[in-house]
Amino acid sequence: MRLVVLGPPGAGKGTQAAHLAASNGARHIATGDLVRREIAAGTPLGQTLKAYNDRGELVPDDLIIDLVTPYIAATSNWILDGFPRDEAQARALDAVLAAHAAPIDLVIALCVADEDLVTRMQGRRISGSTGKTYNLQSSPRPPDDPGPFLTRADDHPDEIRRRLAVYHQATEPLQTYYAAKGLLCRIDGGGQPEEVAARITRVT
Ligand code: AP5
Repeated sequence: MRLVVLGPPGAGKGTQAAHLAASNGARHIATGDLVRREIAAGTPLGQTLKAYNDRGELVPDDLIIDLVTPYIAATSNWILDGFPRDEAQARALDAVLAAHAAPIDLVIALCVADEDLVTRMQGRRISGSTGKTYNLQSSPRPPDDPGPFLTRADDHPDEIRRRLAVYHQATEPLQTYYAAKGLLCRIDGGGQPEEVAARITRVT
């Protein structure tokens, strides 16, 4: 399986990609997680990435392409979450995949209204001990996860608004890019995560 999951911030890309990866044995490659891991490690690259991440801006293309390419090249069975994010990244991905004769099978675009995304992101909590993602509204934390339950640095109102604006300007046009290649499938990302997963299962 080689699947790209597109969608605005908070659309459920991570939730659905993790579920799909677990049920298909594919590797879940999330560029946001790679960025946050680098920041947490405090590397020089992480310090550069932090400024972009915390403001809700995209990391420059060359940095993110260098960061993610080894993960894509290491396996032929993956689900990409958060990459590509603009046309330059999509073209870089095409070049990597052409070199490995491993084309994309399907691009899923999760569609959710902006006002619902704001509520979801404000309710997101990440467990500091297990790394799992929960939501105050839709996925309450289980009693056996000791937490602490943290808010992401970019899940505050100003940063959420900036991320949505960046998505509409830079990433949404990728739907046209992949539709022209006959790869795009738009999925309603509304409703409970299990309902969204069932819609995705019907097309994969
Ligand atoms: P990244 O981590 O990719 O952030 P994002 O795209 O803004 O997406 P999110 O992680 O916020 O949301 P998601 O769609 O994964 O939703 P989730 O499943 O968590 O990137 C962060 C930053 O890294 C970027 O801003 C940028 O700086 C940098 N970066 C990353 N990739 C880059 C790239 N390619 N180029 C340049 N820079 C890059 O769900 C959200 C919440 O909703 C959760 O609480 C979840 O429990 C809940 N939820 C999920 N599904 C549902 C549902 N159906 N109903 C109700 N609640 C739900």
